[in-house]
Amino acid sequence: MQEKVEMLCKEIEEKISNITNLKDLTDLKAEYMGKKGIITELQSGIKDAVDKKEYGMQVNTVRTTFNEKYENKLKELQEEELNRKLESEKIDVTLPSKRIRQGSKHPMTRIQEELEDLFVSMGYDVYDGPEIETDENCFQKLNLPIGHPARDAQDTFYLENEYENYLLRSQTSTGQVRVMEANVEKGPIRVVCPGKVYRRDDDATHSHQFMQMEGLVIDENVSMADLKGTLETFCKKLLGEKTDVRFRPSFFPFTEPSVEVDATCFKCGGKGCPLCKQTGWIEVLGAGMVHPDVLKMSGYDPEKYQGFAFGTGLDRFAMFRFGITDIRTIYGNDVRFLNQFTKGDEHNETK
Ligand code: DAH
Repeated sequence: MQEKVEMLCKEIEEKISNITNLKDLTDLKAEYMGKKGIITELQSGIKDAVDKKEYGMQVNTVRTTFNEKYENKLKELQEEELNRKLESEKIDVTLPSKRIRQGSKHPMTRIQEELEDLFVSMGYDVYDGPEIETDENCFQKLNLPIGHPARDAQDTFYLENEYENYLLRSQTSTGQVRVMEANVEKGPIRVVCPGKVYRRDDDATHSHQFMQMEGLVIDENVSMADLKGTLETFCKKLLGEKTDVRFRPSFFPFTEPSVEVDATCFKCGGKGCPLCKQTGWIEVLGAGMVHPDVLKMSGYDPEKYQGFAFGTGLDRFAMFRFGITDIRTIYGNDVRFLNQFTKGDEHNETK
């Protein structure tokens, strides 16, 4: 028995030392320790052994030898495997990186941010109202009661069934109502409300969705002169210092008096061109002094407070700035269109 054990141990040692991969090692384990393995069978021979204790000890020697050699080999092979992996998966950190495709700001976002910055620099807050509005906020509280003919110019999209009192706002002037109602008792207001508005329009210069920015200033001593100064500054900063501004009498139900504001044509500089229809002027804003009834409806005392308001379409500025000829492309989400506006985007240098 002793001899047999010694032979077996030697054989195990030899076989294991010759193994070079994990699969062979696993196979060898099955050969010796498996259900019908050599050591397993040897162990079951204990029942026929004369000296069971001695027999058991001998078998144990074989098993211990096997386990020891097996564990050592396993460790060795695993280490080898790991080293091989580390070697083959080595990263060259000095390689140039793959080109990162980065998006860019939408042209309308750029214009919106530019205008916001401009008004913030003049001390205004920015208010962002909901696009689904009530009829009251969009029309009634702006002096456009149900059936008012001026509603026709802003025909929009109404919701149905239990939401029929709601519509997609047709003007950011709704922001005036919301800001006033949120500020009653808190005094003066100086705010701009940029955002999307919706109307039933669809041609090269009118989209069913477009963007406006509303401005509202309310205080105890606000006059038409303040309105004029503010809008002149705005036009000059946005369109260039050489820009002239003119005010024409107009009508809006929520302002009295009302004006329309023209700026020197941004394409021809006032000489006359197809864009300005040879007039040298382009209409850029609607504005006026907030109607006393509008102040009253939103909780402000017109005896104490006056205000001015203005509204402008942002798309026109974007079309001019970026040379866009069809407003509908602005909202088409075509990447071929959007990719053209990456220049000057300071976060886009990796492109
Ligand atoms: N809401 C008007 C429109 O969409 C624009 C406008 C005109 C806004 C005069 C004003 C304003 O605040 O005073 O046509």
